[in-house]
Amino acid sequence: MVTTQPKRPRVTLSYAQSLDGCIAAAPGQRTLLSSSQAMQMTHALRAQHDAILVGVGTVIADNPRLNVRLVEGRSPQPIVLDSQLRLPTNAALIQTPVHPLVHPLWVFCTSAAPPHRQNALLTSGTQVFLVNDDHGRVNLSEMLQVCHAQGVRSLMVEGGASVIHAFLQARLVDRVVITLAPRWLSGLPALGTALPHLPQLINPSYQILGPDIVLSADLVWENE
Ligand SMILES: NC(=O)c1ccc[n+]([C@@H]2O[C@H](COP(=O)([O-])OP(=O)(O)OC[C@H]3O[C@@H](n4cnc5c(N)ncnc54)[C@H](OP(=O)(O)O)[C@@H]3O)[C@@H](O)[C@H]2O)c1
Repeated sequence: MVTTQPKRPRVTLSYAQSLDGCIAAAPGQRTLLSSSQAMQMTHALRAQHDAILVGVGTVIADNPRLNVRLVEGRSPQPIVLDSQLRLPTNAALIQTPVHPLVHPLWVFCTSAAPPHRQNALLTSGTQVFLVNDDHGRVNLSEMLQVCHAQGVRSLMVEGGASVIHAFLQARLVDRVVITLAPRWLSGLPALGTALPHLPQLINPSYQILGPDIVLSADLVWENE
């Protein structure tokens, strides 16, 4: 019997980490890790993807814009995973779309999201997608299928820690681009808990950008 895999975008996981594998100095703390050269690379990578995704924890901690500013290029569609719609309505991701070239935000939630929060976000122009939950959080496979149906063929996942772990745990990452900054943080690890299965990295390449080393590699999962 031939089984067809559900269609989903190609997923690139990209984040910056310290020598001890941390992505922030403490949970929920905004920590600038990348050099300006590595930030430029990140913006160029953003421009190569149809969409870019973070968890609501990153929005609350960092208030990112997720657009392309440091190089020429098109900004990707911003996406936030937010089961209960905790996203603040004054988040930069919501406020930025006044610029005509930036896409209105997409937020994926579950049935745990209160209707009044949905209404508040819809009023702000945000597009809210309700999907099934997986252990109380947005079901990633379903979310990716919805993105594919909306025309998204490439997705860049920028974090934070819970989202990095969840994508790797679900084996939904095809490529990694990881910036290694030459410092220790002893803070929030990119992977706080063990993963049941780990991918193999193939075709690794390394780039020196200012003080940072950037590792790019394709991932191969067992039984693929
Ligand atoms: N160094 C870097 O490159 C980098 C990049 C990004 C962020 N960060 C840092 O990472 C930290 C934030 O990380 P975080 O772990 O607190 O937050 P996060 O991973 O950004 O967001 C996690 C939240 O997303 C929601 N979510 C919905 N569906 C999910 C799913 N399937 N899997 C995982 N999460 C899902 C959950 O909240 P609900 O249950 O309410 O839905 C969850 O608590 C901040 O300190 C930030 O500065 C660093």
